[in-house]
Amino acid sequence: MSEQKRIPQHVAIIMDGNGRWAELRGKERCEGHAAGVEPVRASLRAAVRHGVKFLTLYAFSTENWGRPAAEVEALMELFCQSVANEAPELVRQGVRVRMIGERSRFSDKVQKALSEIESLTARGETLTLILALNYSSRSEITRAMQRIARRVAAGELRAEDIGEETVSQALDTAPYPDPDLIIRTSGEQRLSNFLLWQASYAELWFPEVLWPDFTEEEFDRAIEEYARRDRRFGLVKGK
Ligand code: FPP
Repeated sequence: MSEQKRIPQHVAIIMDGNGRWAELRGKERCEGHAAGVEPVRASLRAAVRHGVKFLTLYAFSTENWGRPAAEVEALMELFCQSVANEAPELVRQGVRVRMIGERSRFSDKVQKALSEIESLTARGETLTLILALNYSSRSEITRAMQRIARRVAAGELRAEDIGEETVSQALDTAPYPDPDLIIRTSGEQRLSNFLLWQASYAELWFPEVLWPDFTEEEFDRAIEEYARRDRRFGLVKGK
């Protein structure tokens, strides 16, 4: 490994702790989500500054539909507003927005807002921001298996030719490299159905800070920590 500081090419974040942040202040949970937008901006700024090429944010899991209707509705509104408000700044920074997850379950309004931000930012070359929306890893892997099974049934692919690359290419994340660093805020140390296949060799970092309090400096700390880690990918160092 060279002496040059190692920068992860792909950082993925589980933005956790909005609800607790709000409850600690006697506020509604929705206010915690609203306070979670600034750390998204801060993370993007820091990621661009460090030269990170892909930033994935776990914004809404398939399980999150089970939250109270008012909270789900507020989150949907927040996504629509945020993508519309942030569009000019994202374009200015050269950020390309993409999505993973099943968007068909969202309302037409949300789907339209997502398609708009994707097309408005399609030419961004500085960083790809991947929003995981109505996403869970098991659902993604299940859908990938269905795609592969259909190809086998159609005679396009033999079962014995299915390899790891076949699976990777059938996932929503096919166009992107695996995450090098996964951050989960709020002190929880779990992956919670997030990028399970792709996280095989990712470094994990669990800062105590609640997501609304996550700052550029916190992102810098995660990058510093990553640079210190010794990634061997199951090999022996120096061989
Ligand atoms: C998890 O905290 C957070 C979410 C389910 C929502 C994440 C959404 C945002 C940060 C809003 C901004 C995002 C974008 C992409 C514009 P939690 O509610 O589970 O917190 P808790 O564990 O403390 O209850």
